[in-house]
Amino acid sequence: MVDALPRFPEGFLFGCSTASYQIEGAVHEDGRGPSIWDTFAHTDGKTLNGDTGDVACDHYHRYAEDVELLAELGVGAYRFSIAWPRVQPTGSGVPNAAGLDFYDRLVDALLAKGIVPVPTLFHWDLPQTLEDKGGWLTRDTASYFADYTSHVVTRLGDRVRRWITLNEPIVHMAQGYAYGSHAPGRTLMLDALPVAHHQLLGHGLAARALRAAGAAEVMITNNCTPVWPAADDAGAVTAAAVYDAFHNRLFNDPVLLGSYPDFLGAALGDVVRDGDLELISTPLDALGINYYNPTQVGAPAEDSPLPFDLQPIEGYPTTTFGWPVVPAGLTELLTGLRENYGDALPPIHITENGCSTAPGVHDQFRVDYLDGHLRAVHDAITAGVDVRGYFVWSLLDNFEWAEGYSQRFGLVEVNFDDQARTPRDSYRWLQSALVTARRGG
Ligand code: NOJ
Repeated sequence: MVDALPRFPEGFLFGCSTASYQIEGAVHEDGRGPSIWDTFAHTDGKTLNGDTGDVACDHYHRYAEDVELLAELGVGAYRFSIAWPRVQPTGSGVPNAAGLDFYDRLVDALLAKGIVPVPTLFHWDLPQTLEDKGGWLTRDTASYFADYTSHVVTRLGDRVRRWITLNEPIVHMAQGYAYGSHAPGRTLMLDALPVAHHQLLGHGLAARALRAAGAAEVMITNNCTPVWPAADDAGAVTAAAVYDAFHNRLFNDPVLLGSYPDFLGAALGDVVRDGDLELISTPLDALGINYYNPTQVGAPAEDSPLPFDLQPIEGYPTTTFGWPVVPAGLTELLTGLRENYGDALPPIHITENGCSTAPGVHDQFRVDYLDGHLRAVHDAITAGVDVRGYFVWSLLDNFEWAEGYSQRFGLVEVNFDDQARTPRDSYRWLQSALVTARRGG
């Protein structure tokens, strides 16, 4: 039994997050084109057990049941993503009305239950045709993204007021283009850097398109981590600062300050053109932060291709993914952002936070995880950080990228044989925790 949560500020938004390729399935339906994740998951050896998102949670057909689960849980918001290849099967040109219809139905179902829809426009499922033209390594992809955004906002903007442009551009760049463990599976290491700039440019152009269409709130979601030097020596401290620049500041500085950390700006060279940074720093209404754990960094070995060495963090409980559970890291992250960016920091939404647990519905581990992290958010608010929302990753067990269906992040368990949904203990806990968090225990 844990104590009741403290009271959160009036209007604080509690929600759940998901992403299109991870839950929708129906990959060949209603004119959807192939995405880089279809290609990657269907390539031998890329995902655990050869798992794919072909069916996933079959959310495309079961969305009404999933909206019901959200409503019963009592959350006020739902963050989902829109699959670009449903809207434009080849990434450009005339939109596919049937693809947009699905999101239209989803938005209406949410609104009918009083749940605020918070769509993300890009959660990694790039249309394969655009990857064939160079993907985010090419500048044109940013313009295609803005064009796609315009089509979506034209269709949904009468009912959707809050938008997220990109999800975790650092992870898409690093795993997708530098290390190759995610789609599109490129292994360019430091040569992947233009992917950062082109995604950010896409964000800036999309933000402008959203504003032009009257969007009330525009956000980007960055994955952020407090960076801990592995030792108290100059090598580790420098490596930690370099990692912080790559992971956090590469995406926060341009959107909040209109500049790149010095050495990264220099490395980007003429990939950055006149006017780009003004576009990228189009003022945001809120910053989305995904937090999972801190990162410990040591000095690199002499023959390392990277200027830092990532080391395991000992002494904390770990999730089934092996990730350390450090709720205080979230408070540290939030207060650190406030210190570093001062008044340039807009209000924050925690757009993802959660953990993977063993199969089964009795997940006290997740209850403790969520309780600890919600308190950590509350601590940051008490310390003066303007946090306005918290979204649990995730509503459902789903396709966890290269790990396939092996890592279960859901408040609701999914049986992938028959698609039965069973709320876990954490779902029931959150249901009542939200009541006290809204009114005080
Ligand atoms: C962040 C990503 O946005 C999401 O797609 C992923 O499933 C979770 N982290 C857990 O790894």
